[in-house]
Amino acid sequence: MTTRTDQHWHYEVDINGFIWLSLDYQHGSANVLSGAVLKELGQLLEKIAPLQAKGLILRSAKPKGFIAGADVSEFSSFMNQQQATEGILRAKPIFERLESLPFPTVAMIHGYCLGGGLELALCCDYRVAEDGPTTRLGLPEVKMGIHPGFGGTVRLPRLIGPLPGLELMLTGRSITPQAALKLGLVDAIAPSRHLTKASLRLLTHLPSKQHPSWRHRLLNWAPLRPVVAKLLREKTRTAAPEAHYPAPYALIDLWQRHAGNPQRMYHEEALSTARLMLGNSSRNLVRLFTLREQLKAPGYASKFHPKRVHVIGAGLMGGDIAAWCAQNGLTVTLQDQDNQQIGRALQRANCQFMKKNRDPRLVQEIQDRLIPDPHGHGVERADVVIEAVFENLEVKQKILSSVQARLHSEAVLATNTSSIPLEQIASVLNRPEELIGLHFFNPVAKMPLLEVVVGRLNDPERLCKGCGFALAIDRLPLMVKSGPGFLINRILMPYLLEAITLVEEGVAPEEIDQAAIAFGMPMGPVQLADVVGLSVCLSVAHILAPQLGIAVPKSLEKLVESGHLGRKTGQGFYHYHQDQLKGSSFKATRHPPEDLQDRLIYPILNESIACLREGVVMDGDLLDAGVVYGTGFAPFRGGPLRLIQEQGIPPTLTRLKELSQRHGARFIPDAGWEANHLKRLLQKKDIPNDQEQASLFDSTLANNTNIIHLVPNTG
Ligand code: NAI
Repeated sequence: MTTRTDQHWHYEVDINGFIWLSLDYQHGSANVLSGAVLKELGQLLEKIAPLQAKGLILRSAKPKGFIAGADVSEFSSFMNQQQATEGILRAKPIFERLESLPFPTVAMIHGYCLGGGLELALCCDYRVAEDGPTTRLGLPEVKMGIHPGFGGTVRLPRLIGPLPGLELMLTGRSITPQAALKLGLVDAIAPSRHLTKASLRLLTHLPSKQHPSWRHRLLNWAPLRPVVAKLLREKTRTAAPEAHYPAPYALIDLWQRHAGNPQRMYHEEALSTARLMLGNSSRNLVRLFTLREQLKAPGYASKFHPKRVHVIGAGLMGGDIAAWCAQNGLTVTLQDQDNQQIGRALQRANCQFMKKNRDPRLVQEIQDRLIPDPHGHGVERADVVIEAVFENLEVKQKILSSVQARLHSEAVLATNTSSIPLEQIASVLNRPEELIGLHFFNPVAKMPLLEVVVGRLNDPERLCKGCGFALAIDRLPLMVKSGPGFLINRILMPYLLEAITLVEEGVAPEEIDQAAIAFGMPMGPVQLADVVGLSVCLSVAHILAPQLGIAVPKSLEKLVESGHLGRKTGQGFYHYHQDQLKGSSFKATRHPPEDLQDRLIYPILNESIACLREGVVMDGDLLDAGVVYGTGFAPFRGGPLRLIQEQGIPPTLTRLKELSQRHGARFIPDAGWEANHLKRLLQKKDIPNDQEQASLFDSTLANNTNIIHLVPNTG
């Protein structure tokens, strides 16, 4: 048996003459195709090519998956287009070497197989994927503002046809093994225990290779390509405007111009990828992608792997939190004082499970993990207890102090409060430092962010465990200081209230929403207020408006008084039929003002600076990530602080001052804009100390009993 182990790659030739080539990236838990990994692969393939082998199996030595993609951290090292093009083109001969090995090859895929990982698998003659819930295949490059650059734009359409291939690349969606089999992206799927056998069977039987039907191939025909490309451009425009997201359009152009000439297309693909990589959109999206990892870091550090969760309160939030935890593999006990509430929550959960999981056995398994527990027997065995009862201090205090006495010593005790300072709730507990905030967003299943609320007394270990719990349920944890609106609601509120003020001034809601969408928001603020629910908006407004120096708009109060609460009641700023928006309820009396978009966006920028100054989050990077993942703030702009840096601090400040002169004190720049201060703020900062936090609490909502929360629907 021949074996060889390099830094990242290992290969052995077994007694039957098959080569097993495995990737085990040494600098992380997931395999990525860094420059070093590719270079080593190139050298190994040179050694492997002359061997008299029966076949080669390309696989991953990582338990979690095959290959996650290229190493995005290397993108920022390219200073100009030439460097980037050269960097990408260095991979080309390596991929071609794998593709042209003189014996058959198969990629044996388990877990994720994404981006460059899938492009590498496409160089094999065959692909086999594990038939399991965690297997996903896709080319998500557009989500990072680029398109595939390692030959994927040529090889994927060639394998499965131009339309399905382009559709996968344009949406960046990843697909299940079953869907991949149907598309012809993989040749076989098999359960984990039969994966090796299935791979060897392909290498010994050598069935004919996948290729698209003639109807699919026809679309590659030069006279047809412009027609198909036009349709694709139109379809893409509805999801991603070209000015904000150039990558999908570059991909369509590439295919339209060069699909008839693969060699030229490989080269043009590299040029186009390099161009995109150096653009603002890609740089911002890549930064956000790396910030995701920063958000997750405290969770990984905790090494906390909760198995059981107990949720108290089976209302809107508690019920959905319980369902989401069960969906993500945890055993959940759900308690409420009212059995009917538990029943309703279980019913809602079952609908969600059936929608999300097609396999009835899987649905049954998830249902079995969600256990009604009216008497709270689950507390003693729970690793995490989340209280989500009414927003009432005494009720929360009573429940949490009785629960704490029964918890095991390592368990996390959390409240989902949105407005009551943690210290106040914790003041009645025997060990007040143990209570943390876990502020979920509504709808729980759609919102990727989870604010982990830091109280004055908390010890870091508990907070990291809170972050570990977030990771266990596939949410992004963001540590925020306990204070009014935490981060997300506080930043959203001035934006929503300004939009409502504009409606009151006579601007059409549609025009206002359109201005925000043109900026890059997933939904306009007026519609968002309707979707959130106007009574919720009003509660938040009452809490935050005095602090923000904003008057609560009368129209909002009037709508709530008359029972028009937004989409759920069929009427708000717009009217709806069966949840579908039908038109505006407000007549326009004036044209949209020239500064409409700035009036919406600058309050977000100003409030972000205020939050940074107050240390609501640890640093500017996390603030940007939090605002994008928590509110849907135009991702290609990279977050409010990145936007400020990009357009320049002095011009942004000047515009803010102009707006304050025209429209009033609510636009007065926060003290954080002061030059030296800002420079310091944009650098890293620790979680604020006790005194800083205390001063914030003094000025806030100690006795507030309203539910404050917004529902940013990022779609
Ligand atoms: P909800 O009114 O829908 O549900 C509250 C549930 O708590 C009810 O089912 C009630 O029967 C139960 N409950 C009350 N006292 C209880 C007790 N002593 N023992 C057991 N169960 C009890 O309220 P919602 O909207 O789910 O809010 C719950 C918490 O989540 C609040 O603290 C709220 O501030 C927070 N929150 C709410 C958000 C929203 O969008 N509604 C978003 C984020 C946080």
